[in-house]
Amino acid sequence: MARPNDTSARPAKQSPKKRPRRKRDPERTREAILEAAREILAQDGKEGLSVLQVAQLAGVNRGTAYQHFQTREQLLEAEGALPEVVVACVGGGSNAIGMFAAFLDDADVRLVGVEAADAASLGTGRAGVLHGARSSILADEDGQIADAHSISAGLDYPGVGPEHAWLRDTGRATYLPCTDDEALEAFARLSRTEGIVPALESAHALAVVETLDADYVAVCLSGRGDKDLAEALAALAAG
Ligand SMILES: Cc1ncc(COP(=O)(O)O)c(C=O)c1O
Repeated sequence: MARPNDTSARPAKQSPKKRPRRKRDPERTREAILEAAREILAQDGKEGLSVLQVAQLAGVNRGTAYQHFQTREQLLEAEGALPEVVVACVGGGSNAIGMFAAFLDDADVRLVGVEAADAASLGTGRAGVLHGARSSILADEDGQIADAHSISAGLDYPGVGPEHAWLRDTGRATYLPCTDDEALEAFARLSRTEGIVPALESAHALAVVETLDADYVAVCLSGRGDKDLAEALAALAAG
């Protein structure tokens, strides 16, 4: 009889089958994503459209869908031209890179990332390693991670994806800071003037738009502000 720890009695463990790697084909991927978006739009209308559903239907991951989907195509269709500036807030960086990716080769389109002023890994950080990636991070000279702060939880992070550090260093993208107060002001303004309550993260991106010397700007409204209402209203009331 096999003893409990006698591994020879157990069936050999199958190593997981590796899925064959798909060949990179950006054109086909793009077509598949747009096709999926059209199909969902036709079937469920605008309300049914989400990046997740498009990604699932197209058989790509969500980041890929996000990069290809929406902004660039829709702006070209609606305005017949690309925007002068694309603006997105930057926490860990995936939101902004998703927005920027489609425009990277459009040299005339300025890319502006907005960081929380006290969590500005790109604006005030130094080269270092956080969570296994070498990038621009908030740390002291020994590499000890420094505290970050932001009124928006999503931007309150002392590191950033390395691609942003590269975009900063090559000059392809610019990164600007935004304070809590400036973000709150933008949060209140958009809610009042458009009836759209932006996430506090997105309000950072909105806040810098006025400071840009441009008429045609695409801002990434990365999320809704319902989740932030209690905190924002308390902060606004406190003045
Ligand atoms: C609504 C919203 N927008 C933007 C961000 C920032 O995204 P990222 O961390 O990808 O830069 C977050 C992060 O949690 C978020 O919740």
